Amino acid sequence: MKYQKVGDIVIVKRDLSQEEIKYLVEKTKCKTIVRYITISGDFRRQYVKILYGRETETIHKEHGCLFKLDVSKIMWSQGNIKERRRMAFISNKYETVVDMFSGIGYFSIPMAKYSKPFIYAIEKNPVAYKYLCENIELNKLKNISPILSDNRDVPLENIADRVLMGYVHKTHKFLDKAFSFLKDRGVIHYHETVPEKIINIRPIERLKFYAKKQGYKLIDYKINKIKKYAPGVWHVVVDALFERL
Ligand SMILES: C[S@@+](CC[C@H](N)C(=O)[O-])C[C@H]1O[C@@H](n2cnc3c(N)ncnc32)[C@H](O)[C@@H]1O
Repeated sequence: MKYQKVGDIVIVKRDLSQEEIKYLVEKTKCKTIVRYITISGDFRRQYVKILYGRETETIHKEHGCLFKLDVSKIMWSQGNIKERRRMAFISNKYETVVDMFSGIGYFSIPMAKYSKPFIYAIEKNPVAYKYLCENIELNKLKNISPILSDNRDVPLENIADRVLMGYVHKTHKFLDKAFSFLKDRGVIHYHETVPEKIINIRPIERLKFYAKKQGYKLIDYKINKIKKYAPGVWHVVVDALFERL
């Protein structure tokens, strides 16, 4: 049976029989089992049905970090585990980072703990923001400044060595803002879901288009596959280095 464990909560994709529930509870020692229904909207709101237990809030441990979340309100993508680890070690203590879609701190928490840059973590969903703040405390981090706002309304400019764009719905529409955060030279981690056939073309064309519009030049890039998003469609992240013209 396929399932995902987030903290002490098990998430499944279909209804379960009483026997299956009993089996899973014994096997995983979980306190709650929920069935994942859908994720929707800009806030990536999670919809679930409770199959066993009551409590939907938990603390998930990953790569030595603690993430508190409510699985009935907030998404947790197991498929992004390697990317969360990669981001943990990609920065350094001399950098300033802007995380434009920080959620509960999926990337900001491990990055702040292990690479130690200073991070502005922006999140517009008040529920996700509440957990972001709690997770900063839980992990005893002093180098994250959480900001409750739509990232397009945040007036920071020319301050980031690195901008994280961990969001896959029309992410390119936020590139103008990403460049306004960026210093004269810096990296944007640009996420996109893209059909396999144009995986090496569309994200780079979009990055070049917005770079030119904002007075930057794409110096170097690497396309990393994160996971299969849908049949024939990949979730990729491009590490793209830019310089102001
Ligand atoms: C759920 S995260 C993406 C998943 C995450 N990268 C991971 O590893 O699982 C995306 C977050 O961006 C937030 N968001 C969407 N649009 C935003 C905007 N314009 N400004 C700030 N936050 C935004 C959503 O509320 C959501 O919490």
